[in-house]
Amino acid sequence: MDVLDTAPWETRATALATELDTELAAAGVVLDPAWRQAFAATPRHRFVLQILDGGAVLGHGDPGWLDAVYANESLATQTRISDASGRPVPTSSSSKPTVMARMLERLAVQPGHRVLEIGTGTGYNAALLAHRLGETAVCSIDLDPDLVDSARVHLAEIGLHPQLAAGNGAAGWPGGGPFDRIIATCAVTAIPPAWIDQLADGGRIVAPLDAGSAGPLLVLDKTADDEVTGIIDPYPVLFMPMRAIVDNPYGPGQEPGAAAIGMPHYGTTTLDPAALLARPELELFLWLHAPGLQLGGGTKHGVVVAERGAVRAEADLKPLADGTWAVRQHGPYRLWDTLEHAVAAFDALDHPDASRLGVSALNVAGKQYVWLDDPDSDHCWPLIS
Ligand SMILES: C[S@@+](CC[C@H](N)C(=O)[O-])C[C@H]1O[C@@H](n2cnc3c(N)ncnc32)[C@H](O)[C@@H]1O
Repeated sequence: MDVLDTAPWETRATALATELDTELAAAGVVLDPAWRQAFAATPRHRFVLQILDGGAVLGHGDPGWLDAVYANESLATQTRISDASGRPVPTSSSSKPTVMARMLERLAVQPGHRVLEIGTGTGYNAALLAHRLGETAVCSIDLDPDLVDSARVHLAEIGLHPQLAAGNGAAGWPGGGPFDRIIATCAVTAIPPAWIDQLADGGRIVAPLDAGSAGPLLVLDKTADDEVTGIIDPYPVLFMPMRAIVDNPYGPGQEPGAAAIGMPHYGTTTLDPAALLARPELELFLWLHAPGLQLGGGTKHGVVVAERGAVRAEADLKPLADGTWAVRQHGPYRLWDTLEHAVAAFDALDHPDASRLGVSALNVAGKQYVWLDDPDSDHCWPLIS
């Protein structure tokens, strides 16, 4: 008999699922009673049979495994490859429940809605969706056929049979639309045009922006045949990037750490890089001008980097005797000039916070922009993909 079928396991798992549900509600993340019910009733331990932590594996039935499964944590569940230094790189995970809950709430589903999930992974999120909307309302696709096979088995074990497929979710679910909702559980640099085409009128896309690290969430509604537009939820979410090749967590030539390209540009500035660090309220605004921007230790030492996959822009600043700074900029765009303009705009526009910012994307690859206050505003700029 499967250890999971024995009563003590199931009793403990039910108690832990209820505790997790209570924790999510207490944190104010799950407010909708129907989602609370879905979290309480969906057994995460049926989907996360092994947790990978560096080189260690905590497997189904090991001491501590069940408690780890029901912790409010993101759990790495698959690593298909290692990085250059031999460290395993996660290629699938079960996302942090607070993050999943926030995204599901943002999805604003209604009975009768059809939902497409990009990134089946373990199948746990698909189970929550199927529990809430019914199994025939849910389609879920993952790049990795092995994951789809095991998710299908684990979903069937608890009596759920949503439609699953293996393939590149950048193409959505060809022939399967229109979908009332599309939720991505891998991070994107741009909304794929196919998602907009396959979205029903008035439909919604919830997708994390690929930040290189934790990034914001896009919540975009279909406002025209060829366009989605909506808000930026600044709540930082960390997702692995959407990739194109099963055995490579990055696209071809997308490995991080690639050298900045093109000829460097030299100039001077009066803006002290440490001044950026002293103003955390700037962070999102600057990031939206230079996705992948890392303000941190580097800034103190005069090096600023915006890096996402192989797209790396850098600025190297050295103090001069007259209190100004020498700037060397290198990369696909001039990072320091971009940041300097963004800081000036932020101050001139009365310090806009996330609630005043939005994003629109067209069904043309890479055509997306950030706007202030409304999509037709004079203050808009391209969101670099
Ligand atoms: C954070 S995991 C998804 C977690 C999942 N929703 C769950 O509940 O377990 C991200 C998933 O995105 C998948 N993925 C990455 N690129 C993809 C692509 N182009 N199309 C479809 N899935 C992709 C990965 O294989 C991985 O399983």
